[in-house]
Formats: sequence, structure tokens, C-alpha cells
Amino acid sequence: MKKLAVGLATLVAMAVVPAAADEPGPGGTKPPVARTGADVYRMYCQACHMADAKGAVGAAAFPALADNPRMGTTAYAIYVIQEGKAGMPPFKAMLSREQTAAVVAYLRTHFGNSYPEPVTAADVP
Ligand code: HEC
Repeated sequence: MKKLAVGLATLVAMAVVPAAADEPGPGGTKPPVARTGADVYRMYCQACHMADAKGAVGAAAFPALADNPRMGTTAYAIYVIQEGKAGMPPFKAMLSREQTAAVVAYLRTHFGNSYPEPVTAADVP
């Protein structure tokens, strides 16, 4: 039992130590920053569009981004993300151009979408 308690304490201590001094992390003072498209999706999108990007119908209808031919039109996805649409809030003030490009590129190459052309910050107005 004592061993277990020590082990747990070590785990907890490891979990609260930030990876690097200037990096946000659990127990740090800065909010976590989404760096990759997958991070952006997990932090900003999956609450509505679901982890599998298949959307959901409940209190509102959240469309699937999986197997969605509209993901083939980069400008459309960027526009919806920046300006919002009906039940979707605008993310222009929350996501940088890099983050917006990263999440669009991520969606275009995951969840059954296959649009490998790169998306960069230069594509984001
Ligand atoms: C609060 C819930 C919510 C969040 C968070 C959210 N969305 Fe949406 N999203 C919606 C809803 C609702 C729609 C459908 C809008 C409509 O009625 O056309 C939508 C539509 C979209 C569409 C258009 C789909 C289509 O087929 O026309 C894209 C692309 C999209 N969202 C991407 C994202 C991305 C990327 C994020 C994260 C940065 C995100 N959404 C976050 C609710 C959300």
C-alpha cells in the first residue's frame, strides 16, 4: 500500500511539472496553445463535431466533417471557420491564420477526406 502511494505521488508530481519552463502545461499559468491541426481540432472543434468528425444530432445538428466533399474547397472551410455559420461560432478572433490553415489541412487529410494539397497561412485571409 505504501509503495502504491509513493508511486502515485511520483506520477502526480510528473504530471504537474511543465515540459519546459516557457511551455504551458497542467499546473502552468498560461492556457494550452494548439500548435497542430489535430490540437486545434481537439480543443476547438470536437465538442460539436465529435472526435470522429461524424457530427451529431441532438440539441442542435452538427454536420459531419468526415467524408465531407465540401472539405475539398479550402476557401469554404476557411470561411466557415473564420466567420461562423448558423449554429457555429466564428473563430477568427480565436485562431491564428496558421492554426486555421493547420486545422483545415488536418480535416482535409483525415476522417476519410483525401485532399492532400497543402493549406498554408497564405491561404487564410
Ligand atoms: C458550437 C459548436 C461548433 C463548434 C465549436 C464548431 N462548429 Fe463547425 N459547425 C457547427 C454547426 C452547427 C455547423 C453547421 C452550420 C450550418 O447550419 O450550416 C458547422 C459547420 C461547419 C463546417 C461546414 C460543414 C459543411 O458541410 O458545410 C465546417 C467546415 C466546420 N463547421 C468546421 C469547424 C471547425 C474546423 C471547427 C473548430 C475550429 C468547428 N467547426 C467548431 C458547430 C460547431
